[in-house]
Amino acid sequence: MSVSRPIPHDSAALHVTGAARYVDDVPLPADCLHLCFGLSEIAHGEIESMDLSEVRKSPGVVAVLTARDLPFDNDVSPSAHDEPLLATGRVHYVGQPIFLVVADSHLAARKAARKARITWRELPAILTIEQALEANSRFEDGPVVWIKGDADRAIARAPHVIQGCIHTGAQEHFYLEGQAAFALPTEGGLHVHSSTQHPTEIQHKVAEATGLPMAAVRVECRRMGGGFGGKESQGNALAVACAIVARMFGRPARMRYDRDDDMIITGKRHDFRIDYRVGYDERGRILGLEFTHYVRCGWAQDLSLPVADRAMLHSDNAYLLENVRIESHRLRTNTQSATAFRGFGGPQGMVGIERVMDHIAHELGLDPLQVRRANFYADAGAGGAPRRQTTPYHMEVEDFVLDAMTAELTREADYDARRAAVADWNARNEVLKKGIALTPVKFGISFTLTHLNQAGALVHVYQDGSIHLNHGGTEMGQGLFRKVSQVAAQAFGVPVEQVAITATDTGKVPNTSATAASSGSDLNGMAVKVACDTIRARMAEYLARLHQADPADVRFADGRVTVAGSEMSFAEAAAACHQGRVSLSSTGFYATPKINWDRKAGRGRPFYYFAYGAAISEVVIDTLTGEYRILRTDILHDCGNSLNPAIDIGQIEGGFVQGAGWLTCEEIVWDDKGRLRTHAPSTYKIPACADRPRIFNIRLYDRPNREQTIYRSKAVGEPPFMLAISVFSALAQACAAAGPHFPNLQAPATPEQVLRAVRRAQGAA
Ligand code: MTE
Ligand code: MOS
Repeated sequence: MSVSRPIPHDSAALHVTGAARYVDDVPLPADCLHLCFGLSEIAHGEIESMDLSEVRKSPGVVAVLTARDLPFDNDVSPSAHDEPLLATGRVHYVGQPIFLVVADSHLAARKAARKARITWRELPAILTIEQALEANSRFEDGPVVWIKGDADRAIARAPHVIQGCIHTGAQEHFYLEGQAAFALPTEGGLHVHSSTQHPTEIQHKVAEATGLPMAAVRVECRRMGGGFGGKESQGNALAVACAIVARMFGRPARMRYDRDDDMIITGKRHDFRIDYRVGYDERGRILGLEFTHYVRCGWAQDLSLPVADRAMLHSDNAYLLENVRIESHRLRTNTQSATAFRGFGGPQGMVGIERVMDHIAHELGLDPLQVRRANFYADAGAGGAPRRQTTPYHMEVEDFVLDAMTAELTREADYDARRAAVADWNARNEVLKKGIALTPVKFGISFTLTHLNQAGALVHVYQDGSIHLNHGGTEMGQGLFRKVSQVAAQAFGVPVEQVAITATDTGKVPNTSATAASSGSDLNGMAVKVACDTIRARMAEYLARLHQADPADVRFADGRVTVAGSEMSFAEAAAACHQGRVSLSSTGFYATPKINWDRKAGRGRPFYYFAYGAAISEVVIDTLTGEYRILRTDILHDCGNSLNPAIDIGQIEGGFVQGAGWLTCEEIVWDDKGRLRTHAPSTYKIPACADRPRIFNIRLYDRPNREQTIYRSKAVGEPPFMLAISVFSALAQACAAAGPHFPNLQAPATPEQVLRAVRRAQGAA
């Protein structure tokens, strides 16, 4: 078996020795040009005058381009055609590209870009959610509202009602490899290397900007040094810039952002304000609930609408809500255009409902876990869900398993005893307070834009039995290529080493979707299996004919092929088929079944299935300084039948730690001029080794997916990110131990925020 084995990432050794090749490692061809953007220094206004003479005179500069010099379409937006590559007179945020320096070295381009003399006519900038609301600055005409039941009436009749507000912060992707692109002129077209999750989008935007047909543009990506959603659309600008320059000068062009520029130019996670009003009963069961999401989208639309949708789609998380109203405001501000980031709005939506659980438990004096369980959807029994239960968007939940998972996890992690021990500690200690919390995750798998749920593959078997594997998915460290190579090896019954993993290439598999929404292995794994099955069926048919046997009796296993009592190596079988003029190459295609979705109405089945998980985290805080530690985290996570447990556990560890970073130490700060003050690792703190839980136990909930996914596995890329809400909730519990009042901890829970929450718990205004 290749599938389900915990074999290492195909590039593990290359990653740790530094031998893995990224875009910027492709050897420089002769004559290569290097690019750098000149950036807006104001958040909103008109360019009054732009004197670029010093830039042009700067050593090594070959040319300086502005919007007027662009040959075709000046747009790098993935959605609304509202994102010029270079500003056209008006600027919309500090960091917006306004001119492009073309030089003979990276350093020369960077130095020259600083020599521009620009005067501005500043306009009032809209920076915050509150300012945007006041100015009615938004995408779409008004808020999106989804309704199930009658929340207002249910709240009016409920015995208890509370309301509150929670903010969640923005987040920088901090991929280790920054944005990078490289374009080579070819005969009649371009060959573009891009660090991108979405090669087809790069191809599409490059074609538009250069006037070439898509067929003349070939985009390639062997791997990214991390993407995390930040390379779904944010690589467009670099690739388009390189492509235009390569076409203009007939020379190769390369561009990479320096870390500060990367942070200043590119979009981040959407920060949210979530207001809630909830009516509930004595046991903490929610009777009616209203959420209002205020989403800071930044200056251009990018992927904000589907991100805000996904936040709405996850505002129930694991809980059955009969009367619910969700309102979502997508606000346009003069900040970076916020973009995809692991979870794609889901984490923000979930933090809302998990805060509601904690708040209700605090009011009733109950264990928050009790309140959570009282509100869970019902587990699916052996014969399906015991009763019809639907999400706020009217999708039936058929595969719920969190009641059983929670029971297993609390038992394994000794939750009850440890909760008692925490209470005991808190009674005896004045300064250090502890908190423990379990939070669940139910994450919907599929792109909510239905047509994106498709994938293609291209597989060749060579005469020597080696297998060339290609598909539309991209590798960003998540192990997609390894998993998919296991699928191919399994199909032919050969060791994975026999499968050659190759770079994603729009010339091999066309019209691909972004590798996103955690669906990389679901979609591409299936497409690859289809391609392999086609080739294997042809081989079996021919070999059976040769040996006067039934094709169904041809066996592919352990690197051998057996047919009617004779046995040969896979290589011999491939050579025989080639001799017999059998095609050993095939495409494969897959489209996710069962899904349908009306986003305007907020109704349908946007997801093929749900991935589940639960985490228990225990923390300690210092009530004098606000500092804290994660003492222990236990996770039980559902990957269906894991395609590769080692990789899946890696995804769970990484996702959890990244989520904990978002909710604790990672704080994005803009000043009142809209300047990003946290634009380097010196001011922006991502979690380090010492910030991971001291004790970190992860176990896979090893049950097959109910749906017919690839080998009954489940997607794993994003769901574990949200397990980190357990840390946030535990911190809130610890703050609550400092006094009788609701601490109302805000995210990110930096030590300053923890200190504020402690003060609130103690009754400070
Ligand atoms: N893991 C690593 N190491 N690096 C990444 O950039 N991106 C995450 C997740 N895990 C990411 C990662 C995001 S945002 C997504 S959507 C999925 O991987 C995408 O890959 P998949 O669909 O193959 O899981
Ligand atoms: Mo992931 S945010 O869907 O790239």
